[in-house]
Amino acid sequence: MKYGMMLRQRRVFQKLIAVALIAAAAIWGIESISTKILTAHYATVRPLVVTPVSSAANDGNQLAHVNGCFGCHGDHLTGRVVFNSLFGTRIVASNLTRLAHQETDAQLTTAIRYGIKHDGTSVIEMPSTEFVRSSDSDVAAIIAYMRSLPERPDAASKTRWRFDGRALLAMGILPSEAAMVNTSALGPPQTPESPLARGRYITEAHCSGCHGPDLSGKTIEGSPDLRLSIEHYSPTAFAHFFSTGEGQIGHGTKTMTKMIRGRFKYFAAADVHSIYIYLRSLDQPI
Ligand code: HEC
Ligand code: HEC
Repeated sequence: MKYGMMLRQRRVFQKLIAVALIAAAAIWGIESISTKILTAHYATVRPLVVTPVSSAANDGNQLAHVNGCFGCHGDHLTGRVVFNSLFGTRIVASNLTRLAHQETDAQLTTAIRYGIKHDGTSVIEMPSTEFVRSSDSDVAAIIAYMRSLPERPDAASKTRWRFDGRALLAMGILPSEAAMVNTSALGPPQTPESPLARGRYITEAHCSGCHGPDLSGKTIEGSPDLRLSIEHYSPTAFAHFFSTGEGQIGHGTKTMTKMIRGRFKYFAAADVHSIYIYLRSLDQPI
């Protein structure tokens, strides 16, 4: 009886050791994979030199709104927590009013379009996979705008990685942006002027992420085929949609209403019109 109990206790003990060993291996794996991701260095392809001009700063303000810089970096671009976990991982979008005065043009463009920070590592949770499509002139305008702002103190503390955040990195749920940027999608030197070309440029940068590369929809849950949706809009109704978030088709536009009220309402009227012209020019699906 006594002997049987000892045997059972030993078996329980052996199981506990096995569980502890597996847990240790998992922790070691997550630590080493996430450290590799956080410290991986990336090489730049084509940095950009910006000549700040005051008119560009105005355009840059508008472009920073349209691109959601304010949404993540805070109302004054002084930094904001964009990800906070139960176990203490905290991802902070940097204070751009400080970085704008500390970093070179090449460092800032590289961060925005390639997702590579000034220390050579990747940004996490910043959509450079979309920003890579921005033209040199748009990026230059955004930088001119950032530089026109006075430097202000950081509004949020620093990014901090804890075990749960590291596990999300190791599993690829928080991806390393620089590794995903498609450098062959790099934007043109100048933002196109003609409505058709401008509409295409804007649509590829801002709509394809959800509506698909050919705008046929379904890239994210519920995103419709824009070649069909546009049929329901007159130019005036489309302009109304993009300034108020009130759609036409009647099944409700939850995501779009949020996108428009947060970012797209900052598109200039001429830009909204060019999106309209471009969407109307597309062949209808058969
Ligand atoms: C979805 C959120 C998000 C959006 C939108 C966003 N950023 Fe960021 N950005 C971040 C985060 C988070 C970091 C810090 C990443 C890190 O430390 O890994 C960052 C870092 C940066 C950096 C610092 C790179 C460095 O050298 O340390 C710059 C510059 C920057 N962002 C500029 C911009 C600009 C300009 C825009 C708009 C065109 C923008 N960001 C839009 C989240 C965002
Ligand atoms: C974050 C994802 C997302 C982005 C980015 C996005 N859309 Fe949408 N869009 C949706 C979804 C989802 C719907 C379906 C209705 C809803 O839930 O808002 C939709 C619906 C629409 C509709 C149909 C509206 C109606 O009346 O039913 C139009 C038109 C449209 N989008 C145009 C655009 C254009 C143009 C852009 C780029 C400037 C864009 N969308 C960017 C997700 C997106």
